[in-house]
Amino acid sequence: MKNRSGFSSKLGFVMAAAGSAVGLGNIWRFPNLVANYGGGLFVLIYIILVVTVGSTLMTTEIALGRRGQTDAYGCYKKLDKRFSFLGFFGILIPFFIASYYSVVGGWIVKYLVEFVRGNLTQLTGATYFSNYIASPVAPVVYHGTFIIISMLILLCGVKQGIEKSNKIMMPALLVLSVVIAVRSVTIPGGLSGLAFYLIPDFSKFTFESVLMAIGQVFYSLSLAMGIMVTYGSYMGRDVNIQKSVKMTELFDTCVAFLAGMMIVPAVFAISGGNPDGINAGPGLLFETLPNVFSHVPFGGIFGALFFLLVLFAALTSMISLMEVVITWLIDRFQMGRIKATLLTTVSVFAFGIPSSLGFGVWQDVTIFGRSIFDFIDFTANNVIMPLVAIATCIFVGYFWGVKNIFEEAEISGSFKNKKYYTIMVRYVVPICIAAVWITGIL
Ligand code: PFF
Repeated sequence: MKNRSGFSSKLGFVMAAAGSAVGLGNIWRFPNLVANYGGGLFVLIYIILVVTVGSTLMTTEIALGRRGQTDAYGCYKKLDKRFSFLGFFGILIPFFIASYYSVVGGWIVKYLVEFVRGNLTQLTGATYFSNYIASPVAPVVYHGTFIIISMLILLCGVKQGIEKSNKIMMPALLVLSVVIAVRSVTIPGGLSGLAFYLIPDFSKFTFESVLMAIGQVFYSLSLAMGIMVTYGSYMGRDVNIQKSVKMTELFDTCVAFLAGMMIVPAVFAISGGNPDGINAGPGLLFETLPNVFSHVPFGGIFGALFFLLVLFAALTSMISLMEVVITWLIDRFQMGRIKATLLTTVSVFAFGIPSSLGFGVWQDVTIFGRSIFDFIDFTANNVIMPLVAIATCIFVGYFWGVKNIFEEAEISGSFKNKKYYTIMVRYVVPICIAAVWITGIL
């Protein structure tokens, strides 16, 4: 069978998948969750979930996509019409995520600009970040700036260029993260933060934290929303699925782990070793890192470089989110590419505005007790995505058949641990997610 325009090399798939996977989820969202949901215990739960639930689902989605040879919606429709609703979520969830992703992307652009202007000292102010996000205009303008950069990348056909430059940018991000993490741990007070980050405290166990960890696995690995199905459709038949899954997961988890090492110990150091300071909101990255950079010679330059690399990682994720919606508009409504891109840009921007204003002028608006930003984030990652994951397992385990997954994977080598995979997809993953979903939400 002919392949869709595939990735050029074996590493190409891993690089593209990692480009979508590594982003604000690793650098901004993961450390927040670690800080708020029990430190080392959360890290441990997260890693266990990546190698069990994450691997099973990623293998499944890639194999489905490579068999279907089309986008997520078309793929489910082709393989079993009754499950095409899964493809619909594969458009809706990326749209939801893109809207607030771009708000956080805007914060990154703002910090990059401030670092370049040499304003490190201002950024270290305790209330700088909270004051900034509460203002009604500037964050919306930066949210717009971030999405316009993403749009230009998509329109100018330089998407591939960006993905290629990731081959330099991502390793650079990894190296710089190690340097920052070392500095963060060695600031006085940082070591107690390191202990909080690495040593699990089992008395802190809650089902809610497991639910949050599962949501983070989906978010960070771009699972349960059709993205990996689409990427699978581009994967060459000579590429080993299980090996690619392992490499993508390893890379993604390393970046998240290092981000935690940069931020969590620094919070302890800044708050003078007082763990109460750890209870931070979405601003943890922005509030702590300028402080770390202020402890480093040429901190302003390091800060600018770091936020530039994070911006790259965020952009590759953002364009993969937008691309799903654009492709759907083109295929479903026969829209031209330019029109589809503009429509996506404008709607994502408009839908993101309430999330931004929710930190300031609309801070009293709550939906089910959550801010607008939090509500969209929670609904996508912790309510809908677990359901999509369960439905995907049921589809493969009981309808389409695990044999088809093995068959597809074995085109490019052997499939290891077939029994384990079958038990995971049929029983363990759907039952565990359902149990955690019910206990964590109710
Ligand atoms: N995985 C990305 C991150 O961790 O930042 C977020 C994301 C990107 C999710 C692309 C979904 C997606 F399609």
